[in-house]
Amino acid sequence: MVKRVWFITGISRGLGYALAQAAHERGDLVIGTTRSGAAPEWLEAQGLHVLPLDMGDAASIDQALASAFALHGRIDVLVNNAGYGLLGSVEAADDREVRDIFAVNLFAPLAIIRRALPRMRGQGRGHIVNVASIAGIAPAPGSGIYAGTKAALSAISYALAQELAPFGLWVTVVEPGSLRTDFLSDRSVLRSGATIDDYAATSGRAVDGLLSKDGRQAGDPQRAAQAILAAVDAEEPPLDLLLGSDALQRARTRLDRFDDDVRQWEDVSRSADFPQMA
Ligand SMILES: NC(=O)c1ccc[n+]([C@@H]2O[C@H](COP(=O)([O-])OP(=O)(O)OC[C@H]3O[C@@H](n4cnc5c(N)ncnc54)[C@H](OP(=O)(O)O)[C@@H]3O)[C@@H](O)[C@H]2O)c1
Repeated sequence: MVKRVWFITGISRGLGYALAQAAHERGDLVIGTTRSGAAPEWLEAQGLHVLPLDMGDAASIDQALASAFALHGRIDVLVNNAGYGLLGSVEAADDREVRDIFAVNLFAPLAIIRRALPRMRGQGRGHIVNVASIAGIAPAPGSGIYAGTKAALSAISYALAQELAPFGLWVTVVEPGSLRTDFLSDRSVLRSGATIDDYAATSGRAVDGLLSKDGRQAGDPQRAAQAILAAVDAEEPPLDLLLGSDALQRARTRLDRFDDDVRQWEDVSRSADFPQMA
């Protein structure tokens, strides 16, 4: 099999680490990014290329991509993995918290894609993998702003997939359920500074329930990484790749509800057309 060049953001730990390890172990060339540019111990020992990239800093995005293309002359698989969660009711999130998480989870991946595409389009093949979340498909109370960042990343990816198909480029949106990483730990997830007591029974309860799952999530990041490799290797890669049985169940529940609404309100939906169009 031809060696692929991977560019993966956020390989310091979690899913990004597992994916960098899996791609490297099978012989692909991996360029990973961490905030500091320091490589995690095991990856450093393997001689992986690690570049500094702070998702909140546009200059560091430019620099990381320039360095990546300088290393191997191409990127075959671009993985936007780095990201974090924000917990709390939608009303409690302040403007800065909202802007910060959209900057890291949405604007930075978009900037990376836009800066990589002029080179990737010229290659005639390649794959963009955007790590979104089941939350972007089936948002729950207590993580609405986070879900918004991931839903926006998914929607843009669906359009992008159609725009890039003529260039031989695939786009896959990865939607994990709960993965046993640091994601829910104090090292990663943020809680909105404000809380509003009136939401105790909705977002408050949902956040407590979510945080109580830390360390007991069903999803294995290494198996999730293998699933991503399978999608990238496929002749017809998926546009959406759900990871985990919880993701499957939440997606089905959301799709059923969507389907019910579409069918029950179909006549009202059609009634919005000018009469001569019906
Ligand atoms: N775990 C889950 O249950 C789950 C579910 C759905 C989706 N996801 C998504 O999966 C992706 C990976 O998350 P994970 O589970 O592996 O979580 P994780 O263990 O917390 O790892 C997150 C990674 O993102 C990096 N990162 C966060 N903010 C950054 C910033 N401002 N600049 C640069 N790097 C930054 C972290 O780097 P540092 O070490 O420097 O902080 C770390 O490498 C995320 O996009 C997350 O939203 C996770």
